[in-house]
Amino acid sequence: MSSIPEFHDRMLSLGLARVAEQAALASASLIGRGDEKAADQAAVNAMREQLNLLDIAGVVVIGEGERDEAPMLYIGEEVGTGNGPGVDIALDPLEGTTLTAKDMPNALTVIAMGPRGSMLHAPDTYMDKLAIGSGYPDGVVSLDMSPRERVEALAKAKGCAPSDITVCILERTRHERMIADVRETGAAIRLITDGDVAGVMHCAEAELTGIDMYMGQGGAPEGVLAAAALKCMGGQIFGRLLFRNEDEKNRAAKAGITDLHRIYTGDEMVTQDVIFAATGVTGGSLLPPLKRSPGWVETTTLLMRSKTGSVRRMTYRTPLASHQ
Ligand code: FBP
Repeated sequence: MSSIPEFHDRMLSLGLARVAEQAALASASLIGRGDEKAADQAAVNAMREQLNLLDIAGVVVIGEGERDEAPMLYIGEEVGTGNGPGVDIALDPLEGTTLTAKDMPNALTVIAMGPRGSMLHAPDTYMDKLAIGSGYPDGVVSLDMSPRERVEALAKAKGCAPSDITVCILERTRHERMIADVRETGAAIRLITDGDVAGVMHCAEAELTGIDMYMGQGGAPEGVLAAAALKCMGGQIFGRLLFRNEDEKNRAAKAGITDLHRIYTGDEMVTQDVIFAATGVTGGSLLPPLKRSPGWVETTTLLMRSKTGSVRRMTYRTPLASHQ
């Protein structure tokens, strides 16, 4: 009989929610204060401290960066007490540092956990991403289609006109052609300035958010986190790593990636059951903002398990004094 504890996702999920909550609470006093680095650092410190209280033998697979550039929660850092199951962890203590500093919508603290070896070791490069919600045939849209073809294919599958589709895209110069191509179909575009984990998650709750599809280039680590979220919420995501130089290709090689042109499906980025927690820092269509009032602070956390498809939104209220 093996003495290695199993990955009991149900038991660990509340602990994971707490990790996301504490990271958000730590950034509370920095929302809208114009200092993204301080907000990020506060969230990183709190997330690491809370993670190290969990009975897991965790390894950070998606983290703050490579060991030489990130002193905490770097890729490969071991976290947890060591007394528990071996797990992979993907995290972003503050997804949307600029959104937080400017008090703009959709900044989240994000963390996902799965059995050891279950997550793609995505290097810190860009990823071309495409995501839609659930209820569509597999592969109805693909990264090999043009933006126009994607909109038309999704509209056909949804039984509506392209002009009834809303696409979410990061507002970047690199996306100008994509935006023009989508606009030519008559579809609407929800432009976001940052935060593409939330951008992808919006597709899974289209009736709440009004967004049918996400497309564009963003961080590869955020792509894996978004894949973990969709594995719980339902929907399809595709990602292809993008490399701007030799250094980025070397990073991929170091992470064990040999096929640089591969298109990953969500299930190839996160291969086994996963738990996912995200706490709202600034408010958006997915989660309300962290609320500070005299004497107390309140957060809302989305906690999800892919094994059961359960999605919880949990409100947590605590005296403010301990979080100044
Ligand atoms: P940070 O929270 O690290 O600032 O990342 C925000 C973000 O908008 C991600 O959501 C997205 O994947 C990435 O930055 C896009 O990168 P870039 O700003 O270089 O286009």
